[in-house]
Amino acid sequence: MRLTWLGHACFCLEGSRIVLIDPFIPGGSLPVEPDIVAVTHAHADHLGMTLHLKKKTVAINEIAKYLASKGIPAEPMNIGGSITVDGVKFTMTPALHSSWVEDEGMGFYGGTAAGFVITMDDTTVYHAGDTALFSDMQIIRDLYRPDVALIPIGGRYTMGPEEAMVAARYIGAQIVIPMHYGTFPAIEQDVQKFKQTIERTTSIQVRALSPGEWIDIGPETSGKRGA
Ligand code: NI
Ligand code: MN
Repeated sequence: MRLTWLGHACFCLEGSRIVLIDPFIPGGSLPVEPDIVAVTHAHADHLGMTLHLKKKTVAINEIAKYLASKGIPAEPMNIGGSITVDGVKFTMTPALHSSWVEDEGMGFYGGTAAGFVITMDDTTVYHAGDTALFSDMQIIRDLYRPDVALIPIGGRYTMGPEEAMVAARYIGAQIVIPMHYGTFPAIEQDVQKFKQTIERTTSIQVRALSPGEWIDIGPETSGKRGA
């Protein structure tokens, strides 16, 4: 599986299908056409271009209902549940955060915020969504054994680096990719310090990607998409 960070909380997983998570892309355009979109919660920096993509979209009931009303083929689910879409398995995990749909100057409750465990081609990725640290991340480790964990480190709206270091240990994935930092001044963080601290004290590998950069999970290669 090829995993590309497109900035902020947006990741593209390419394998037998192309899955796009939280399609808010700060600096640019989408490099590939996704088959499936997954949305962790309704904040604008996660819902992003979901309405424009018009792809099959996995989301919590409340968001799925909103998307369906806009003509998007939504796949509703809820926390703790799993669905398989075109051979890709999605399990919706809890996230300690809020969710609000903004629509033409109005706003409404978007259900609870979530994360996803996504398994495609025998590789499992955990996207934590926007969240505080919570100890049940250990259940995610025990049940799903993610190969890669995508965790927020920006602080203010989510956990910051200190909490994320504990999260990384709880989740137990061999590879951790920090996200949701550096997009705007309020969530600037020293990602190299985060990486060095984790790597000094655990066997976890932190891959601090730059937007557009990808890694192949399995064989150890990496690269960057054409600018
Ligand atoms: Ni949020
Ligand atoms: Mn956010």
